[in-house]
Formats: sequence, C-alpha cells, structure tokens
Amino acid sequence: MIDITKNIATAPRRTKASVIRELLKITNKPGVISFAGGLPDPQHFPYDFVANSVKEIMAKQGRVALQYGPTDGLPELKEEFIKFLQKHEGITAKPENLIVTTASQQALDMVGRLFIDASDPVIVEKPSYMGGLQVFKSYGCEFVGVKLEDDGISTEELEEKLLWLRAQDEHYKFLYLVPDFQNPSGVTLSQEKRKKVIELSEKYNVAVIEDSPYRQIRFEGKAPEMLYRLDQNSRKTDNIISLFTFSKTFAPGLRLGIILAHPQIIKKMEILKQSLDLCTSSLNQLIAADFLRSGFFEKHIEVIKKTYKLKKDTMVAALEKYMPEGVTWTKPEGGLFLWVRLPESMSADEMFADALKENVAYVIGSAFHSDGSGKNTMRLNFSYPTPEDIDEGIKRLATAVKKRMVAAK
Ligand SMILES: Cc1ncc(COP(=O)(O)O)c(C=O)c1O
Repeated sequence: MIDITKNIATAPRRTKASVIRELLKITNKPGVISFAGGLPDPQHFPYDFVANSVKEIMAKQGRVALQYGPTDGLPELKEEFIKFLQKHEGITAKPENLIVTTASQQALDMVGRLFIDASDPVIVEKPSYMGGLQVFKSYGCEFVGVKLEDDGISTEELEEKLLWLRAQDEHYKFLYLVPDFQNPSGVTLSQEKRKKVIELSEKYNVAVIEDSPYRQIRFEGKAPEMLYRLDQNSRKTDNIISLFTFSKTFAPGLRLGIILAHPQIIKKMEILKQSLDLCTSSLNQLIAADFLRSGFFEKHIEVIKKTYKLKKDTMVAALEKYMPEGVTWTKPEGGLFLWVRLPESMSADEMFADALKENVAYVIGSAFHSDGSGKNTMRLNFSYPTPEDIDEGIKRLATAVKKRMVAAK
C-alpha cells in the first residue's frame, strides 16, 4: 500500500479528525447520557409532511426531482427563500444573490476554497464552531482568535487585531462569525456590536461570514438584525456572506443550505460547486420549497422553539440545583447549546474521563479554541436529550465536578 503519510496531498494531511465526531464514538455507549452531540430532537422531525410532499412531488414534478439540477439551485427553492428573507428578515434578495448548497458545511468549504491561500490569517471568535475551524485549517490558514464576550465578539480586540495585521501587511481575508446562539457558547452578537462589525469590515476591507444555523430558533427576547440586512440598509459594503441551513429548522438529513451574498461572490461559488458535486439534490430542494410555500415552516418552528425552551429551562434549573459554587454557565435565548465554565484551575479535558465513569458526556471547550485554550470550559447540548435525562445527566456531571474539587484540595 502507498505511504498514506507521504503520498497524500497537503490539504488532507493538514485536516485533523473532528474531536466531536471522535467523542461521539465513545459517548454512544448504552447508559451514557450525552450532552456531546449537536443533534436536533428526532421526535419532532416532520415525518408526515415529508412523506406527503414526496408523493405530491413525484406526481407533479418527478422529472425535475430525479434529474440533475442547475448548480446554483432550483428556481422553485430560490423563489420561496426570497419570500422567506423578505418576510422574516426584511431582506430584499434576487436569485443571483443566492446559491443552494449541500448544507452549511459545504458552504464553509466553499468559503475556504474561495478565500484561503496557505498561511493567510483568518479571524475567528474564541471559541468558535469546530467544523469551521477544521475546514479552514485544511486550506492552511493561520487563526487569529478574538475573545468572545457575553454580547458577542470583542469589537475592541477585533480592531486591535485588524490594525496589527494591517501593519504587518498581512492579507487577512475574512472574519468568521456565528452571531446567533453561537455554537458552542449560545452567545448572541448584540445590535450595537453588529453595527461596529460592519464599520470595521468597511474600514479594513475584510469580508464577514455570517454563519447562522440557529437564528430561527429564538425562544426568548428580541432578535437583533442580521448583519446582511444591517449592511444593506446602512453602509452597503456588500462584504457580508450569510450562510443558511435547513438542518436545525427542518432536518439535517436533507443536507440543504443556501448562501446569500453579492452576485460576484455567488458566481465564483457556483464555479467551485461545479467541481464539488455538480448540484445539490433536486428532490430535497423541492421538498424544502414545499416546506416554505405551504406555511408548514412557521408551524414547525413554533413546535421546535417550545420544545427546546423547555429543555433549556430544565438544564438551567438542574445546573442551579446541582452545581457547586464557582461553576458558571450561559443562559441562551435560543439555539441548541449552553456553555459551562469551571473554576480556572480545573480542566474539563482531564475531567472528561471522570464524567464518563459517571455515565455522562460533554464536549471539551478547548476543542473550540483555535489556540487550544479554554481548558476549563465545556459545551452542553440540550436539544437532543429528554428533560428527564437532562436533569439526571446534570446531576451526574455535578458529581464529577464535586469529586474533582475535593481531590484538588
Ligand atoms: C455554526 C455551524 N455552522 C455550520 C454547521 C453545519 O451544519 P449543516 O452542514 O448541517 O448545515 C453547524 C452544525 O452544527 C454549525 O453549528
């Protein structure tokens, strides 16, 4: 056999296995309550809707559904998505602003292909979405991490870093943000900071990737405007590239997403996608178009919001009930995750084995830090486990934390 360490190309050699996917293999043991995954609750997938929709599509549009489609996506889906953007986000878009993707992970890969040359600095939140870090790293970028605060990325530190990069004549290409109920922290970027991000994007000529899979799952509070909308209504830098996905609002198994950006960027993305997969599944695009057109989306999202709010409240109440002093956590207004901070002296990396012994699992926070910091943090998912398991799982986790605290004394 060939020498796999030498004969393969640079990009796959640089690509490290996702810590989450590796963790999931361990945590899928019977008896373990896992807060490690990021899965939607399968109880609420719209099974009947999909079954009926497929039947109807086959009767009326079978030839389109089972055929190759245009690389930038089917007009049926684009039309419905344009209406969705107008109605829910106040955004006016045209078909040439959109390209349908095989969900957001492909969109992130296309962003990496489009922008990154080896050694280019890419600016990321600390912590940030691991799947984004993984794909950008595979294209050889260097990360410039900016701390995340309770209201989103620190715009002061962001400007300092941009100034520093500019002084060194570095070709920084983009800023990657997950502005709504961030994965992993659950934090949302405030309206004020959104304005500042756009101002900095213009001043320093840097593209902003607005990756927002959880935005529609807001169960409390008022939504700040999307960066894309703010930009269109104010500065019109056209620097914002927004990524949507149907994974959390419909079903991840459909593998369906959409990029919204300036037509010049979309055109380049289309050329890239030609060599990736020619086109995204036509059948799935027609199902999603039906999901939006029929108004089922609005009904379905209400069910998801209600369910996840109950689960988030259960998790927060359990943390308050069981966790010892010195442990803190975020209280997200939406999304799928919350973020726990242990005292600085403790390591969630080291505690992982103890937690597994107690039959509970989480994702270590350091995996989301581009520089490996954040050892005292962890991400907990609340969308997948049942409320009963959430209560019991947090109790077990608190036992692991307390045992470590006693051992350290
Ligand atoms: C921030 C973020 N971006 C992108 C993705 C990828 O999602 P998908 O490829 O299913 O759209 C995820 C998945 O969890 C995510 O959390």
